Amino acid sequence: MSAPATIRCHQTPAWAGLQACFEASGKTLDLRDAFAANPQRFAEFSQDAPYVFADLSKNLINASIQALLLDLAHQCGLEQHRDAMFAGEKINCTENRAVMHFLLRNPAPTPQGRAQAATEKIAPELSLVHETLAAMLAYAEQVRADEGITNIVNIGIGGSDLGPQMAVLALEEFRLQGKRLHFVSNVDGHELAGVLAQLKPQNTLFLIASKTFTTTETMTNALSAKHWFEAQGGKDVARHFAALTTNVAAANEFGISTTFGFWDWVGGRYSLWSAIGLPLAIAIGAQGFRDLLAGAHAMDEHFRNTPLERNLPVRLGLLDVWYRNFHGFTSRSIAPYSSALRRLPAYLQQLEMESNGKRVDVNGQALPFATAPVLWGEPGTNGQHAYFQMLHQGTDVVPVEFVAVKKAAHSLPGHHDKLLANVLAQAQALMLGKHDGGGHRHFPGNRPSTFLLLDELTPASLGSLIALQEHRVFVSGAIWGINSFDQWGVELGKVLARDIETRLATGDDAGLDGSTAGLLQKIVSG
Ligand code: F6P
Repeated sequence: MSAPATIRCHQTPAWAGLQACFEASGKTLDLRDAFAANPQRFAEFSQDAPYVFADLSKNLINASIQALLLDLAHQCGLEQHRDAMFAGEKINCTENRAVMHFLLRNPAPTPQGRAQAATEKIAPELSLVHETLAAMLAYAEQVRADEGITNIVNIGIGGSDLGPQMAVLALEEFRLQGKRLHFVSNVDGHELAGVLAQLKPQNTLFLIASKTFTTTETMTNALSAKHWFEAQGGKDVARHFAALTTNVAAANEFGISTTFGFWDWVGGRYSLWSAIGLPLAIAIGAQGFRDLLAGAHAMDEHFRNTPLERNLPVRLGLLDVWYRNFHGFTSRSIAPYSSALRRLPAYLQQLEMESNGKRVDVNGQALPFATAPVLWGEPGTNGQHAYFQMLHQGTDVVPVEFVAVKKAAHSLPGHHDKLLANVLAQAQALMLGKHDGGGHRHFPGNRPSTFLLLDELTPASLGSLIALQEHRVFVSGAIWGINSFDQWGVELGKVLARDIETRLATGDDAGLDGSTAGLLQKIVSG
């Protein structure tokens, strides 16, 4: 049985225990008192995981809350659900698909034919994964060596944009010089026009990235790019266009013969590790990309094999449940104190909110409790000069997840110490607060945060950090009993946009609601 246990989390004894614990003491837990009472708190609530050190001690938990959360995980069948994913079972039940992005970072089968960490059932897929990976990385190396190609334009949206874009920026230090990477996602033609204005067809490689090869934004941008290429006298589409897709037939029909495939068991927001990672592979090279995969694989192994109480994705996912369902916190702020990680919040928004922003369980039954929090954030220290006011003194409590990197990749004196001092100070200030009479200068404190620390920002540590986030989203989704791997909520708007697009051409507002009709007329009336 692949679906999570049929008992819903709110019907478990652990849920009742957590509710009672919250009412009795959990809601008034004071971090300052907790540290004063337990000198071991930091040690007990922090841990190492591959490439990531995590301090959870400034969260509103204690040993008994953590024990109850772990009971909840057991009672909800978390381990069985995790093992079902790793066994290649079709846990994406509404699309009847397996969920195997982890396989993309699994080491190749050994000469003896046994794949490390892959079951017999998924071993054939693993061979295919490695064949495709080898072809994709060989192509990346070929592009890197091709001095004629100086600009690479990735055209894709959602998972076909956010992952590679975030990672290319994050790994700027590892990027091959002499090649510029551009990312075009929006159907707003200003974006594509702005990029095209900088290009010459003979120096440009367009990567059309779309799992389905049907997404309107991507198809519109791809078509305009192809028209531009031809109008500018561009020749040899095979050299200047490549497609990254599960729908190779549609790419061929579009006129692209250079294609790199992947499979329906890779969700769009989990596809960085597939052919969708090609822009990153071009930027950091085949070995860099393999290092990214190895870092992610190390986190996969941690998630699969570590007892739940020392399993970082499990601890983070359970904390998310505690905050969302018992404290009622509605959002989580992500604060990477690293300019290179500036697109991490956008990437994590899709990961968390498209995966777990669901109101029904795996069987389509409405849930009587809340699911995904709103995820938002900006890099530090920028956020401090914008919205941190609200985090410190606003009426809502927002758990913050800090991400910091020990070693800088630059040698400018003073900067990195200031950056690290600020991230430590913000976490400290949120917790400690400052008693100052209760007025404008008063900081209530006791505001929770998690601190993730990387030694260095490298392909391997980035891979591990991202896999950590994927698995923590899996954990909360499994507890809630939802399908974290579909995204039906994006469909309605797509259908309505097609209808409205036709109406914009004709001005026909028959049958529309009053507001949409009024706005349509405002727009078409010139
Ligand atoms: O509309 C949402 C979505 O399907 C995302 O899940 C996906 O990452 C994005 O669109 C792009 O889809 P595709 O890669 O098929 O173009």
